[in-house]
Amino acid sequence: MPTAVADTLTPEEDQRFRLLRQIDLAPDASQRATAGALGISLGRFNALLRGAVDAGFVKVSGSDSTDKRQRFAYVITSKGAAEKARLAAGFLARKRAEYDALHAELTGTSSSLTSTPSRTLPMQNTLAPIPELYVSYDSAQKLKMEAADLVSWDLTPRQICDLELLMNGGFNPLKGFLGQEDYDSVVETMRLKDGSLWPMPITLDVSEEFASKLSEGQDIALRDQEGVILATMTVTDNWVPNKAREAEKVFGADDSAHPAVNYLHNQAGAVYLGGPVVGIQQPVHYDFRARRETPNELRAYFRKLGWRKVVAFQTRNPLHRAHQELTFRAAREAQANLLIHPVVGMTKPGDVDHFTRVRCYEAVLDKYPNSTTHMSLLNLAMRMAGPREAVWHGLIRANHGCTHFIVGRDHAGPGKNSAGEDFYGPYDAQDLFREHQDEIGIEMVDFKHMVYVQERAQYEPADEIKDKDDVTILNISGTELRRRLAEGLEIPEWFSFPEVVKELRKTKPPRSKQGFTVFFTGFSGSGKSTIANALMVKLMEMGGRPVTLLDGDIVRKNLSSELGFSKEHRDLNIRRIGYVASEITKNGGIAICAPIAPYATTRRAVREDVEAFGAFVEVHVATSIEECERRDRKGLYKLAREGKIKEFTGISDPYDVPQNPELSVETENVDVDNCAHQVILKLESMGLIAAE
Ligand code: PPS
Repeated sequence: MPTAVADTLTPEEDQRFRLLRQIDLAPDASQRATAGALGISLGRFNALLRGAVDAGFVKVSGSDSTDKRQRFAYVITSKGAAEKARLAAGFLARKRAEYDALHAELTGTSSSLTSTPSRTLPMQNTLAPIPELYVSYDSAQKLKMEAADLVSWDLTPRQICDLELLMNGGFNPLKGFLGQEDYDSVVETMRLKDGSLWPMPITLDVSEEFASKLSEGQDIALRDQEGVILATMTVTDNWVPNKAREAEKVFGADDSAHPAVNYLHNQAGAVYLGGPVVGIQQPVHYDFRARRETPNELRAYFRKLGWRKVVAFQTRNPLHRAHQELTFRAAREAQANLLIHPVVGMTKPGDVDHFTRVRCYEAVLDKYPNSTTHMSLLNLAMRMAGPREAVWHGLIRANHGCTHFIVGRDHAGPGKNSAGEDFYGPYDAQDLFREHQDEIGIEMVDFKHMVYVQERAQYEPADEIKDKDDVTILNISGTELRRRLAEGLEIPEWFSFPEVVKELRKTKPPRSKQGFTVFFTGFSGSGKSTIANALMVKLMEMGGRPVTLLDGDIVRKNLSSELGFSKEHRDLNIRRIGYVASEITKNGGIAICAPIAPYATTRRAVREDVEAFGAFVEVHVATSIEECERRDRKGLYKLAREGKIKEFTGISDPYDVPQNPELSVETENVDVDNCAHQVILKLESMGLIAAE
């Protein structure tokens, strides 16, 4: 029987791949040993090596002159590592084809390892390893030393998540952060410039200042927040993106109510860098290490257990009974094993933290047959991009060796836009997924909304209930669940598992026992400090929680003494206040803040920081600028008018009036006690203070 080998690498590419692999594996081996390992003569090896050095794939490394033996003093460069990663895909395909041909020759049947050329589903479940961007341990040690001299970029939490999935193959076929042409193509057409489906721009956003220091082709070191070098990147592209276009095309609207659009405009750097990445080491995780698996580790696990079909369930929420029913049904429908694959990187602001969630998942795992179910954590930074996100999730799960993927109602939905409407239709994600399913290489198991039918004591898809009018349909929405938790109300057993509810109650005690932040904002002299002081005394009189006052003047003395009043400095000042307030809130205390905080975007960022842990109550002290100036308690308005104080809020600097504060208090003709009391009433109505 003829051996059909896929024509995936030219002979030159094949040799180059083997050479780069060998140098990567054993950078310190002698030339003779390396030639021997490649099965070629020393002369041939030297010729190959020269070619690789000339092409910039390999370079001379600091040679060890104390060593008498001739040492192989070369190291693979970032360009070489990227080339190796590029060639690896072809090499793997070739190996698979060789295996397939041999299998056919020996058994007369086709191999189940080989991908199905017809691309009928399930397509990608070869379970053979996929290419990663890591170099070998020895090369990594060398590169790490060399990278010490490189310009460094300290990655943001989101970039660390992206980098981890780039390096471990979760974002295969990407070989690094997108360059400009790929970026433009992904934004406009959901495809890389070579035509492969890829819906999400994976970009390295940096500050203008950092970008201006770089030249084309320069290698930079990518470090985590503790300064550990995780990777190097060769900067091939450096450009200022059109963020409004990215928002429109990728997220459907340039509306900052969308968390990813807000991130894009208010957190992401102004410049994007693109280029191939060389992986040195995985980001360090101290939590749930045994539950974190790379795509290749999961593939190996499925291979070992003989799981040919695996349906993945993506989630960013605790699992309740409806989810369990949905996953059971999906596994049954697809006749597949189940992978519970929760996201523990970054999810929607305000979600239950991943520590609590993983404890919840662990609590329900024994409700699943462990011979057919596995749980693994995915360090993905979600964008909440609905339809595009679903396609992206599918590609990521295909890379993790799954054959099926559950897409439910409103998959990765970001909530309401600033007009109060949903960003996407509830089944848009399913529609887009269906359209691209063949290319994604994973079959969708779509689900409609699951509801509980009391008479039959079971969950059923809402649209499949024929006797709707004769049965009692029960459902608790996410908002209702949060309300019940916040108010310490009952959560029925038909809805969730007692173990899950117990975990949630530990993290989310009723609101009256949680920490919170009251954030006063308004002009200088509006009365913020006076009302804040009165409020503090009233709350201390009630007792129960420690209260901290972060007044504008106090903060500027103790936390921000070096700052002035430029936009940059004010933002820094407010972010510091937000940080302290969020820590107080997290630890169950009450933070009362009273800065001017003139910028809406900064107030919003603080709100997000705090809301991760408890309520954020924005109080606009709405005293008019005329009244503040008339009062002029500190004499500052006079100085501002005379130009002796520059950038004075309301006089020579802007103030964004809060659009949706929890409370707005007028101070003209109202005494301080009454203003503070209005805040107390608001806190009570929000359930933040209650009778014991
Ligand atoms: S900000 O914008 O939120 O950082 O300002 P904040 O820290 O709250 O300001 C605290 C007090 O600084 C005094 N001050 C000024 N305010 C506004 N603009 C300028 N240029 C300025 N220079 C000094 C002002 O008295 C603020 O006081 P209160 O009354 O507490 O708001």
